[in-house]
Amino acid sequence: MVIESKIPKEAEIPPTDFVIVGGTGDLALRKIFPALFHRFLDGQIPESCALIAAARHTLPKDDFLAQLRPFCDEVITKENEADWLAFGERVQIIGFDVKTGEGAEEIEAACLATAAVPRVFYFAISPTLFSDACQTLERTGLKTEQTRLVVEKPMGHDLKSAEALDDSILAVFEERQIYRIDHYLGKETVQNLMALRFANSIFESLWSNAHIDHVQISVAEEVGVGSRASYYDDFGALRDMVQNHLLQLLCLVAMEPPSKFVADQVRDEKLRVLRALKPITRDNFDRCVKLGQYTKGSIEAKPVDSYSNEVGHASRTETFAALRCEISNWRWSGVPFYLRTGKRLAGRASEIVITFKRPPHNIFEDGPRSSEVMEPNRLVIRLQPNEGLKLSMTSKEPGPGGMRLFPASLNLSFNETFKTRLPEAYERLLMDVARGNQTLFMRSDEVEAAWAFIDPIVNEAKLRQPEKYTAGTWGPVSAFELMAEHGHRWIEPEVDG
Ligand code: BG6
Repeated sequence: MVIESKIPKEAEIPPTDFVIVGGTGDLALRKIFPALFHRFLDGQIPESCALIAAARHTLPKDDFLAQLRPFCDEVITKENEADWLAFGERVQIIGFDVKTGEGAEEIEAACLATAAVPRVFYFAISPTLFSDACQTLERTGLKTEQTRLVVEKPMGHDLKSAEALDDSILAVFEERQIYRIDHYLGKETVQNLMALRFANSIFESLWSNAHIDHVQISVAEEVGVGSRASYYDDFGALRDMVQNHLLQLLCLVAMEPPSKFVADQVRDEKLRVLRALKPITRDNFDRCVKLGQYTKGSIEAKPVDSYSNEVGHASRTETFAALRCEISNWRWSGVPFYLRTGKRLAGRASEIVITFKRPPHNIFEDGPRSSEVMEPNRLVIRLQPNEGLKLSMTSKEPGPGGMRLFPASLNLSFNETFKTRLPEAYERLLMDVARGNQTLFMRSDEVEAAWAFIDPIVNEAKLRQPEKYTAGTWGPVSAFELMAEHGHRWIEPEVDG
């Protein structure tokens, strides 16, 4: 069945001013303005909203739009070319210096005059400027009661720096005004994970150590470090991906049901999971963590260079990390959560795999092929690409010939089921900021709890050399051993092509 899915009229956001600070930079061009354009096309952004790119280095609007267009082209057609032009009309580019505040008056003049209108400042600038920028917004009076601040990772590079960064923001803004983005929380299937768990009763009753054997969370990328070599070489996979995206996914799988789907209740439950993670320290590091770094190889038949050549020097930075985590609480005691992420892997695929326990006794033992095919039930939540859910089960082949079992699966592909384009994470998140809904944003205590877990791992990692893996494979051998030691194996994600 195909379901025609449309944006409901009530999804229109209230009049809101969007000021993208660093609005002509990479993040703004690749993600933020395209997200605003998509929402504009769907009629979610009312006429009165100001869309401002505030930047130290301005450029003529036509040049800005020419740079933006390739990131929006996919949805521009002959029929809606006029909408693209109308969107362009709405965008304003204003020179703004976050240190001196020069340009603040022009921003004030471009925003809607009433103090009741939410004013969203999105910091698409280096975190080293956050503190100055916050002070400037206050000093120049741009910050109103209704101002909301959006910030993105990296939120510090360890617990101490994250606390310092937060202190500098909290000196000006209240927690209710701060929207810390982890764009994984804006992904459709991630939200669907919550619907799956908390809008259905069949899974929740099985969702514990009584029925689940182990959980795997994989975020595999084909891309290398590209133009971000100096940032990445400092951060590595543990800080770039595990501290935020993978731990957030783990929280959503493991958290207790909140009594309401509202910001603080959801965030309280995620925080409890982070705080219940069993620490990984020197004593258990080698049993729980495996790190890798890619060497030359090929992806989709194209040769790719080694990490050290990409960054231009020999490096100990890990481009792959696999972890075996444990959650010390009643629900999850004894259930390993395996996390892995890496660059230059065999495919781009993000999946959560919940493996259930095997049936306690096999009554089909003597049937043909029964022992080979009696795989445990698995629920695969596919985040990208080809978002969907798959439940694997054992079934019987039709016809005579004894109980011939075979592995079958129930598939829900969102692309095939819903006749709609799935919005990008930033689209959903920006609309939530305008509505004042913080549910899909991280609170400062969550960010800090994640750093408290990751810091000792990063400190140990620094003392070791990551194991090399060939680009275009699924990572270093030790990552497979991590699983095998416990009688488990990575379930290879489905890759396009
Ligand atoms: C970012 C990381 O947060 O997420 C990048 O800094 C990574 O290194 C990216 O490539 C992955 O996001 P997505 O949405 O493409 O899976």
